[in-house]
Amino acid sequence: MKNFKEKIAVITGAGTGIGRNLASQLAAEGCHVAICDVLTENLNTTIQICNDIAPAGTLITAHTCDVSDETQVIAFCEAVKQQHQTEHINLLFNNAGIGGGPSFLLSDRDEWERTFGVDWFGVYYCARAFMPLLVASSEGHLINTSSVNGFWACLGPHTAHTAYCTAKFAVKGFSEALLVDLRMNAPHVKVSVVMPGHIGTEIIANTNKILGAPKPADMTAEDLMPFRQWLEKQQISTENISDDELRAMIELNNDNFTNNAPLSAAQAATIILDGVRDEKWRILVGDDAHALDQQVRDDPETAYELSFIEKMLSFLPST
Ligand SMILES: NC(=O)c1ccc[n+]([C@@H]2O[C@H](COP(=O)([O-])OP(=O)(O)OC[C@H]3O[C@@H](n4cnc5c(N)ncnc54)[C@H](O)[C@@H]3O)[C@@H](O)[C@H]2O)c1
Repeated sequence: MKNFKEKIAVITGAGTGIGRNLASQLAAEGCHVAICDVLTENLNTTIQICNDIAPAGTLITAHTCDVSDETQVIAFCEAVKQQHQTEHINLLFNNAGIGGGPSFLLSDRDEWERTFGVDWFGVYYCARAFMPLLVASSEGHLINTSSVNGFWACLGPHTAHTAYCTAKFAVKGFSEALLVDLRMNAPHVKVSVVMPGHIGTEIIANTNKILGAPKPADMTAEDLMPFRQWLEKQQISTENISDDELRAMIELNNDNFTNNAPLSAAQAATIILDGVRDEKWRILVGDDAHALDQQVRDDPETAYELSFIEKMLSFLPST
């Protein structure tokens, strides 16, 4: 698919971040766009940005949908068919995602399954619902967003990250397995797996909102305990660090994730759309993602050794 003009794209999780920028860049090319999010308040801003930039006649629709709930996904698909008066779509970006559920041993099971549910089942349910519409198009492309954590299940030597990594590995495996399935059974439909490195978005704040976690300023001493323990595991004594100082450190850490990333959400969206145009099945986003991919391939046996992790952390965010 060399250009997106007058194509129809569905984008999940387009309320902010990479999804919002995919929507606006596609809309700017005259692609009709249907976006969904669970944080409805952000959808209106995305719609406004898209409408401001899109050529006349471009249809942009917004839908409230929790992609981890199959009933809502089916209703979203029906609404797209109805509002876009179509039985086909050309592009499905399975972009919605959250963090959370860090430890398989210690984290709350509901949170673990919520994160896995959004990051894996969100992709699966949307692929199930929209695949017939992709197959019904003359040119279709399914774009599933995984992560560098879809090939390297680690955020650092003292940071468990199990639900997210498990889901992102599943997304990568599903996408790779579809390559042969689609080539055999629907060769006009392509599939790509997107593996971003660190992108400056509000994924931490959005995740906290969706999981009902308090803002740093509202965290109680009990809420702060896991962070205190995390610092202690890194040989940083917290004896003389007050709760307010811990709150400020968390706030700063979150701000740094958004503001000090090597790539913006807009740059990430451009790289993804270029990858789709070039029919790349694996789309690594950012120099950090390319470097990490190379290192893990070069030396898989040591990929979780402390020395390897410490070397890799120089490429990755500090969360
Ligand atoms: N930012 C990064 O560094 C980074 C790195 C690797 C992968 N990713 C992946 O990129 C994708 C986009 O994330 P982002 O960084 O733009 O963050 P973001 O928080 O700005 O965007 C994710 C969007 O998904 C929405 N969402 C969450 N749960 C949902 C649900 N159940 N149903 C519908 N929408 C839901 C959020 O409200 C948000 O608008 C995610 O899949 C994320 O895992 C991001």
